[in-house]
Amino acid sequence: MYNLLKGKKGIIFGALDENSIAWKIAERAHEEGAIFVLTNAPIAMRMGEINSLAEKTSSQIIPADATSMEDLENLVDRSLEILGGKIDFVLHSIGMSINVRKGNHYTNSNYDFTHKGFDVSALSFHRVMNVLYSKNAMNEWGSIVALTYMAAQRVFPDYNDMADNKAYLESIARSFGYFFGRDHKVRVNTISQSPTQTRAGSGVKGFSGFLNYAEKMSPLGNATASECADYTISLFSDLTKKVTMQNLFHDGGFSNMGISDVIMDDFIDRNK
Ligand SMILES: NC(=O)c1ccc[n+]([C@@H]2O[C@H](COP(=O)([O-])OP(=O)(O)OC[C@H]3O[C@@H](n4cnc5c(N)ncnc54)[C@H](O)[C@@H]3O)[C@@H](O)[C@H]2O)c1
Repeated sequence: MYNLLKGKKGIIFGALDENSIAWKIAERAHEEGAIFVLTNAPIAMRMGEINSLAEKTSSQIIPADATSMEDLENLVDRSLEILGGKIDFVLHSIGMSINVRKGNHYTNSNYDFTHKGFDVSALSFHRVMNVLYSKNAMNEWGSIVALTYMAAQRVFPDYNDMADNKAYLESIARSFGYFFGRDHKVRVNTISQSPTQTRAGSGVKGFSGFLNYAEKMSPLGNATASECADYTISLFSDLTKKVTMQNLFHDGGFSNMGISDVIMDDFIDRNK
């Protein structure tokens, strides 16, 4: 490995099990020399899988519901103590839609569920940055990354209200990125990742269709969770200091495609 994060301190949200994108990012950050705190919603801790990641990466775990300012303040205060100084990188890898889980159609949402999903998936990013910013908890040239999906720009019908949550999330990265850059020299970006087989991903109706279609459309094929981890490490490192307020596609080229030969083959009328 390259010691790209040697001496850097971080907070990693969202490692639930070994398929989680955040799990792979934590493993890579550890390999690159970082020290960090792992956090997830108290309810997710019950499954206990995060303990093995903590052991493997010599990390401490601090539970925090990302919709609770109290939890987030406690998380940041304790992280500053545990890590022995200000924070260099933060990963927001959080997503949840109750409408998706319950199979409610987009055109007939349950708005209590919509509110909850928005709070967890999008507003939580603002809350996290609010706490970091107001406590002046980030080091200069620090880096904050959230994970997103291209349904923020284009319609994928079964992605449901998560599409709207992701659009809001990406907008927060730009808006907060301005103030964090101006006042603390901290960069804020979102990575728009290929469909990836994880707990959250598999909750989307027809997920295998998403995955296979994107694979056939992308000249480089879908980006895996491990490849997402590599990319994220580059954004946490000092090699990308002036990249901020961007939504960065990490999708094997999918986002710039119209049609690929492989997909076209399925539609050619052989009789003409
Ligand atoms: N899997 C995909 O296809 C895909 C593609 C693009 C982007 N993403 C995004 O990547 C991120 C990580 O998802 P994943 O695919 O690794 O799935 P995952 O299910 O492993 O991770 C989602 C995480 O969100 C956490 N979470 C839910 N509610 C929370 C709360 N109230 N407070 C704190 N944490 C909470 C869960 O416990 C879980 O760890 C999400 O933002 C997701 O939308 C996923």
